[in-house]
Amino acid sequence: MLNPKLKAMIRRIDDLPTLPRTVFRITEMINNPRSSARDLAQVITDDQVLTARLLRLVNSSFYGFPQRITTITRAIVLLGFDAIRHLLLTTSVFDIFSDRKSELQVAREKLWDHSLGCAVAAKVIGKQIRHDKIEELFVCALLHDIGKIVSMVYAQEDYAAVTRLAAEKNILLFEAEAALLEYTHADIGRLLAERWNLPNMVADVIVYHHTPDQAGPYAKEAAVVHLADIFCRALQLGSGGDHRMPALDTAAWDLLQLDETDIAPMLAEVESGFNDISPFTDAIVTAATA
Ligand SMILES: [Fe+2]
Ligand SMILES: [Fe+2]
Repeated sequence: MLNPKLKAMIRRIDDLPTLPRTVFRITEMINNPRSSARDLAQVITDDQVLTARLLRLVNSSFYGFPQRITTITRAIVLLGFDAIRHLLLTTSVFDIFSDRKSELQVAREKLWDHSLGCAVAAKVIGKQIRHDKIEELFVCALLHDIGKIVSMVYAQEDYAAVTRLAAEKNILLFEAEAALLEYTHADIGRLLAERWNLPNMVADVIVYHHTPDQAGPYAKEAAVVHLADIFCRALQLGSGGDHRMPALDTAAWDLLQLDETDIAPMLAEVESGFNDISPFTDAIVTAATA
């Protein structure tokens, strides 16, 4: 039996914007080695909003191309498949973050930075452990706390009570959620993942990012995002709504087979990667609101 508050939340989730279908079609296409730049361009140009936004982005000062890029095919040739997919996904997720009530803006921006920081960190860790799906790790980390956004926007009072309790008792946000609401942002994330039909890897990482040892076939990916989350807190990149450092899951750490001496250089890379991506975020904001 689902608890009544979570049930009410499910009804609210039905109102939430969906990730554009295009994003998934593109992900599938990029995974198919036989697809060409022209196939990809076709899928993108079917979606006028994404096309316009993508062209604004590639022509922004972030990329600084000397000539104006007027076609999607040209953008793909210049930037590459992976970068294009990244761009589309990040701008689509950003839409969900930028939605509605302006009084939530500061908290939402901090959460966006936390998510983006984790995404950068997941890539750095993925590279270090020679993971073969680095781009997917970026996506998993970008979305890991998406349940918080839903609470923030659709259950504002509950979310405020949860952050208050977390601050008062100096506990983690998900512990405060469990105590007050009897569900956590990971549970909301699971519902969202189902609604959006997210790939299993992404869904499981969202659900198990606090308990990576329970993630079954995706335990390693959940461990990467778990560690990425800790890295972001250590570097104070954005905020996930609480001020406590989660304990490092020892099984997750063992699974990653990292050496303690890897940590400092990885942290430095995450920090500079995050600083590099900030102008990119500004470009996304401008392209989304232009
Ligand atoms: Fe979380
Ligand atoms: Fe997080």
